[in-house]
Amino acid sequence: MFPLYSRKLDTYDGIDIIDINKYKKPVNRKVMVIIMPIKTDTLTNSFRILTKNTEYQIKADEYGVLKRVWYGRRVDCDMEYMLDYPNTGFSVNPYDAAHNRNYSLNTLPLEYPCDGAGDFRVPALSVIRRDGSRALDLRYTGFKVLDGKYSIPGLPAVYAEKDEAQTIEIYLADGDITVTLRYGVLPKYDIITRSAVISNKGKSAVRLENAMSMCLDIPYGEWDWIHFEGRHAMERIPERAPLIHGVQESSSKRGASSHQQNPSVILCDKTCSETSGECYGAALMYSGSFKTQIEYDQVNQARLVMGINPDLFSWELKPGDDFHTPEAIMTYSAEGFSKLSHNFHRVIRNNVCRGRYKTAKRPVLLNNWEATYFNFDDEKLLEIAKKAAELGADMFVMDDGWFGKRDSDTSGLGDWIVNENKLKGGLKPLVDKVRKMGLKFGIWIEPEMVSEDSDLFRAHPEWVIRIPGRNPALCRSQLVLDMTRNDVRDYLYNAISAILNSADISYIKWDMNRSICDWYSDTLTSVNMGEMPHRYVLGLYELLEKITSDFPDVLIEGCSGGGGRFDAGILYYCPQIWCSDNTDAYDRTKIQYGTSFIYPLSAVGSHVSASPNHQTGRVSSIEARAVTAMAGSFGYELDLNKLTDEEKEEVKNQITRFKGYDDLIHNGTYHRLSDPLRDKFALWQYVAEDKSEILVHGMIFRQEPNMLRYAVRLRGLSEERLYRLETDGKVYTGKALMNGGILLPHTWGDYAPVELHFTEV
Ligand code: DGJ
Repeated sequence: MFPLYSRKLDTYDGIDIIDINKYKKPVNRKVMVIIMPIKTDTLTNSFRILTKNTEYQIKADEYGVLKRVWYGRRVDCDMEYMLDYPNTGFSVNPYDAAHNRNYSLNTLPLEYPCDGAGDFRVPALSVIRRDGSRALDLRYTGFKVLDGKYSIPGLPAVYAEKDEAQTIEIYLADGDITVTLRYGVLPKYDIITRSAVISNKGKSAVRLENAMSMCLDIPYGEWDWIHFEGRHAMERIPERAPLIHGVQESSSKRGASSHQQNPSVILCDKTCSETSGECYGAALMYSGSFKTQIEYDQVNQARLVMGINPDLFSWELKPGDDFHTPEAIMTYSAEGFSKLSHNFHRVIRNNVCRGRYKTAKRPVLLNNWEATYFNFDDEKLLEIAKKAAELGADMFVMDDGWFGKRDSDTSGLGDWIVNENKLKGGLKPLVDKVRKMGLKFGIWIEPEMVSEDSDLFRAHPEWVIRIPGRNPALCRSQLVLDMTRNDVRDYLYNAISAILNSADISYIKWDMNRSICDWYSDTLTSVNMGEMPHRYVLGLYELLEKITSDFPDVLIEGCSGGGGRFDAGILYYCPQIWCSDNTDAYDRTKIQYGTSFIYPLSAVGSHVSASPNHQTGRVSSIEARAVTAMAGSFGYELDLNKLTDEEKEEVKNQITRFKGYDDLIHNGTYHRLSDPLRDKFALWQYVAEDKSEILVHGMIFRQEPNMLRYAVRLRGLSEERLYRLETDGKVYTGKALMNGGILLPHTWGDYAPVELHFTEV
């Protein structure tokens, strides 16, 4: 029979790892479970990870093969009984399983499958030994449970207080190659993180050809997968498709996480919706080339692997070396996509983002890019800043074009010296004047890039990524600096700190405007050249870490031509990212809808820009643009002086309104009330933590004659409470709003904004 864990709970070895006595008594079973999420049983080599609503079971079997036994709802029972051992024909059996044809690595759900020893599905780990052999068959050797959450040297990782998280390390080995699988558990958010350390304990080097961060095998069920596809100015559009037999993948080979695919994925059951159904989500905390693969195999089992893109990865693991994979953040929801998103939002907001602006209010900013592009001088900037101050903004951001010879995007990158033809007297006088207006000052930089037409390139042509004897490919007429080089990183650190020390600067927009190719570095030998794409990311992270720790009060907004590097890795250093270069409000409802599946609203840089919109020519009201831009870290990106007086008044009102809503928007619970890719309107809702305030925002796309009103049910309210709608003063019960709903107001014209603000009576 299969033991019920609940009966055995008190005898579990893991229990004495936690000192229950340090928690105030009485401690009831439920609280204990949350405080001590990891249970281990050394008799059966079983590991059970509990979170508030989920359970993950792992077991090393009699051969030492580490199997994933369960991930899903809490079951309180050993789920081994659900594993099947089919003899599929042509199955390969491990030697020590003798002639048991039912035991095959190729059909078992495995925690960290390897290449070459009988599992023919997509692997998590592939190595080549010195003799050229590849077969790797990892077996269990032990485990350790640790208080708190592990961190990863040189890489961003979820962090947590000691009593907020636990870690289990599970050790595997095949000869001299050992692997430590690390699981970090944040029970209150239903979050489990994964990372692996691959070590070479032998005497000769081995080559890692593939080292994924996670593998999740799901033995049963018919699944859809959702990935987030797109292009420049149209990022992270969710695409849902059924799994078909074979391998499906989403990936980037661009050196950054990319506009085209995002390092996040959802596997969901066929009926899964916003509010019901099962779904698994994974987000990679990594900003370089990645790969997510899902294989649906011959026994209808789904395998999800995610990590550094092996197509651009080959790492020499010398004797004694360890290789740390980036971290994958996983969650499971039995209550549809909303719950899955809430888990990701909470962990990213509270345990990924760092620094002062993790909790501090984000400044409402005015950015001059779409107001002036490269064509500005200090006087023009001051005029724009003055109006921003008058209308209530908190910060003025000077975008591209203030340095070197930078009157277009063909020159000047790398020369981080003020262009005094544009800013007379330099940076400080301009910053001081802006500060005197009561505004903070922010500045744009693109540290990783260099123009061929720049003093930096002329002085250090060897600093760019290019293959000797070949012309490098250009992108936006620019080249990429070799971030694996210490001298490059030192130059950039000195240049950035000189800018920050030269004036009272509170914010950096850290841009990155090209995809990377022509991988080659003088710092690496031919044997190590395959390490370069990952070493580039490590170099970038090292620089970001130095800047953020030396300038902790500076808010850094990530950017890569908008959302070309929008990932949980960047959010560790930059708590907000410019979501897209497309500022068209209608398109933004779709881009921000997709982004919201994984990333919290506080992470989404979003601005009101001019109408007609510069990317699409679409005309929309300033209110429609504002309601859409408020779904993020809010700001403006136009010359406010060019607005009508009526529009200026609206802007003033919008900024005041946003400053009343920002806590609700950034820290409340977010619900997608429509699917703007399918529905005739976009609608979303924020609920305060204590459920005392609700804000519904959205846009009705098209006006039709004799238009019917749309009925929408609200979510996440308190059924028992009463809520007053600000616009008409009417009072509704929570029950009514959730079960009956509300009619959206009559609107006029296309792209009509919607705002419904309720407060508890
Ligand atoms: C791309 C960014 O996404 C834009 O907002 C702007 O900063 C330009 N770069 C400037 O070159």
